[in-house]
Amino acid sequence: MSAAVTSIAASPGPDVVEHPRLTVIGTGYLGATHAVSMAVLGYEVLGVDVDQAKIDALVAGRVPFHEPGLPEQLAAALASGRLRFTTSFDEAAAFGDVHFVCVGTPQQRGSNAADMTYVDAAFTELARRLDRRALIVGKSTVPIGTAARLTELVQSVAPAGTEVEVAWNPEFLREGYAVQDTMHPDRLVFGVTTPWAEQQLRAAFRPVLDEGTPLVVADLPTAELVKVAANSFLATKISFINAMAEVCEATGADVSVLATALSHDTRIGGRFLKPGLGFGGGCLPKDIRAFAARAEELGVGQAVRFLGEVDGINLRRRQRTVDLVTELADGDLVGKRIAALGAAFKPNSDDVRDAPALDVARMLHRAGAVVSVFDPEAMPNAAKVYPELRYAPSLTAAVMDADVVVLLTEWQEFRDADPVDIGTLVHERRIVDGRHALDADRYRAAGWEYRALGRPVQSPTVELTVDERDAFRRTA
Ligand code: UDX
Repeated sequence: MSAAVTSIAASPGPDVVEHPRLTVIGTGYLGATHAVSMAVLGYEVLGVDVDQAKIDALVAGRVPFHEPGLPEQLAAALASGRLRFTTSFDEAAAFGDVHFVCVGTPQQRGSNAADMTYVDAAFTELARRLDRRALIVGKSTVPIGTAARLTELVQSVAPAGTEVEVAWNPEFLREGYAVQDTMHPDRLVFGVTTPWAEQQLRAAFRPVLDEGTPLVVADLPTAELVKVAANSFLATKISFINAMAEVCEATGADVSVLATALSHDTRIGGRFLKPGLGFGGGCLPKDIRAFAARAEELGVGQAVRFLGEVDGINLRRRQRTVDLVTELADGDLVGKRIAALGAAFKPNSDDVRDAPALDVARMLHRAGAVVSVFDPEAMPNAAKVYPELRYAPSLTAAVMDADVVVLLTEWQEFRDADPVDIGTLVHERRIVDGRHALDADRYRAAGWEYRALGRPVQSPTVELTVDERDAFRRTA
């Protein structure tokens, strides 16, 4: 591995473009947010994608996914005249001084490794057209060693040869907070091989650095590793508390109380220590699998073999949630009406990639239950993946006459629901809180049998009268 590159913060060298023109290649979640944010920060930005429909939507001011705050920022960026979109790599190569590559690296079919098709294609298509000094900056999450491989590839196909450099700048944005995380990140990481590349990147992030954002300058493999290491740590923390939930289930201990007690230790902290149905989404699951696969290739598989266990603990939570629902459904799911609250992999997102919620809904359906799913934002995406499930138009419609309600994604709307009110709609007041998001005491006080992963069983404290229930049903 190469040594860390010395950070040089002095005034830019002669070749550094102080206010670089930026391209952003790949306008999915990461790319669209990056392009919009950089334009809002004052840069001239050209967004590039091979998908004409995506480009048309963005040009028309439409964000093709749910991300709070992004539509407003897109409108502002378009109105400023600094943000444009194209499908032309010729235009991108002519326009940009710094090119950010933000295309996806999904899990390969039939393997845990990352699919590098899109990254390789983006770098190649762009480089073939670069006839002057330029910096290509990878932001996608990639197997370690990719940036070095792409440097060779780029310099062999680019007309400008070694005048074109590759840098790596991993992205840590969370869905639901994408704009905030992009404009005000908690750190920037620049993987570079020359002082010029560092200076050029500094110029491309000037406003972010000016507000005091910590910068770590690293070599290429370290920069690649930061991203997968961060996601591995977060996934491990979640699976750790969920492993403790398994122990709690066998001992009668309460994982919620345990997590609270652990979180007061500032060395541990409470973030990402929330027990429940576990992690999903477009990053954590595929990134830990790809990391383990890459480590095996590098001959250090043993060092991260625990990630297989992290994955296994996480997936077991889904089955355990189905088991709890089955218990509440008197041991038999066939024909039982189950209200599944949530489909997205987390709240404030319409993303259903590897969503634990949707997986549980599907498992319940396959076991013979009549599953009624409601999610405030993710139903169109969910219906595309699992058209066989029923989708209810509202929370109240989903829970109507349910034998068991199961909370799978902790949307605020579900947290705010009144257990007394929804208790009058269901057939049986039985709920599984898959996200530890509800007030168990309030539910029990309203006559519900409340169950959560890793928490002991307790009986409801009151029963609603039939009259109370009928009175509310008439007004709902
Ligand atoms: C994650 C990383 O946080 C981000 O830095 C990276 O760039 C992309 O991957 P994201 O996928 O948007 O971001 O979701 P995140 O907020 O990290 O949540 C991931 C999953 O973990 C969700 O399914 C969430 O419900 C779950 N989770 C999170 C828990 O189960 N318990 C917790 O305590 C925290």
